[in-house]
Amino acid sequence: MVSTNILHRHLLKFLVLSALSFFIGTIHGMLQVMPPIRAWLDSIGSPYGGPGHMIDPLAHAHMNLVGGVVLLAMCVTFYLLPILTGKNIYSVKLVRHTFWWVSIGVYSFYIIQMIFGIWEGTLLLADPQSIASVHRFYGPVMAVSGTTMAIGFTTFFANVVLTVTSASPTKD
Ligand code: HEM
Repeated sequence: MVSTNILHRHLLKFLVLSALSFFIGTIHGMLQVMPPIRAWLDSIGSPYGGPGHMIDPLAHAHMNLVGGVVLLAMCVTFYLLPILTGKNIYSVKLVRHTFWWVSIGVYSFYIIQMIFGIWEGTLLLADPQSIASVHRFYGPVMAVSGTTMAIGFTTFFANVVLTVTSASPTKD
């Protein structure tokens, strides 16, 4: 019972951040179809390429899909696993890790896409030659952000597998 309460307290963070991510992703989506913003995004390559691609679809898609859907799916999985298997979650500490790696990963991903999208988009229209001096930082920072998210997905998968295969006593 105590460990269930601790687990549920952690799962609440997934739910709240999922709701916040849907909110941010939806406001983002609403803004990006407003005619002046849409025209600017089109002029910088969105949605097919160029700096506009980072804002729509990349930032928008990952906020809604990873921040919103994936955090919710992970929360539901951790909630249902003990019910369906009759076992405790293998590691609640790993649940906390999953939350922080995925959350920091997806929010840094969103911020990086927005910063580089707006920065390089502005340069594309004003001084296209200078884009290369900015874009050389894009790969390394995205690699850190993407790896952070990927670690979260890995801890999630490991915890699911370890829970299903563990010999932990069945719950009453
Ligand atoms: C470690 C986790 C992830 C990383 C590092 C990552 C990274 C990326 C990158 C770099 C692209 C751009 C590819 C390109 O420019 O052609 C991309 C595209 C995309 N990703 Fe992710 N992604 C992750 C997880 C996810 C998840 C879990 C979803 C959905 C649930 C998702 C949905 C998408 C979609 C829909 C696109 C295509 C957007 C388009 O139309 O161009 N990603 N992702």
